[in-house]
Amino acid sequence: MKKIIIGNFKMNTKPSELKPYAMSLATKTKGSKNDIIICPPYTHLSVAREFLTGSGVAYGAQNISDEEKGALTGEISASMIKDLGATYVIIGHSERRAKFKETDRLVNRKIKTALANGLKVILCVGESLQIRENRQAYAFIKKELDDDLKGIYENELDSVIIAYEPIWAIGTGKTATNKDIIKMIETIRKEVEYLYSEKAGKELSVVYGGSVNLNNYKKILSNETVNGVLVGGACLDVDAFAVMCRENY
Ligand code: 13P
Repeated sequence: MKKIIIGNFKMNTKPSELKPYAMSLATKTKGSKNDIIICPPYTHLSVAREFLTGSGVAYGAQNISDEEKGALTGEISASMIKDLGATYVIIGHSERRAKFKETDRLVNRKIKTALANGLKVILCVGESLQIRENRQAYAFIKKELDDDLKGIYENELDSVIIAYEPIWAIGTGKTATNKDIIKMIETIRKEVEYLYSEKAGKELSVVYGGSVNLNNYKKILSNETVNGVLVGGACLDVDAFAVMCRENY
């Protein structure tokens, strides 16, 4: 079955490092049935355009402004990344929510801006360890979905991938158990079913992220309800990432 394999570089690598990475990934994954997406920093996007156009690898950004244009020093708009051939954007990553104080209201505005500009959205949701320990993880994720998807139409969900990334599993080497992942992804589907329709819940693309690596990706992706993975640290090694991308699931 086709899976979605996404690499989030975060603030790692230099633009000059993307050319060998992109060429290698495109070659190694040629003919793969999976959807392969990399999200390097903004500064790498023109390199991505040069070396990934026409390949089986799509690319996107890790963030956008909620505004279209204007006096917003240092911000990058949806149309700017689109102009560089990006087709995806990650929105609401927990690192942005925590470090840059991004609220659900802002995340919601960013999703609308991205969709209005024809971008596909990778919307990250995920609970902290404290929330999980307080047994509020399911309620927390439902509320994040309710707030983040407010005003998004059902026919726009085709352009939205939900990434379940429990914060305690990110960069810790401690992935969630398969049971936890499946239970949360089913909860996400149920909530989307409640918000939209049974069809929307069933057809929604939901991926898992948090310490995915060569040792655990197969197990995580073995369940049908998991449509893919969002890989941080392990995607920086092009050989390792290519293995996950070309697997026949
Ligand atoms: P790690 O794979 O490094 O845990 O990062 C996950 C992540 O945050 C991807 O967006």
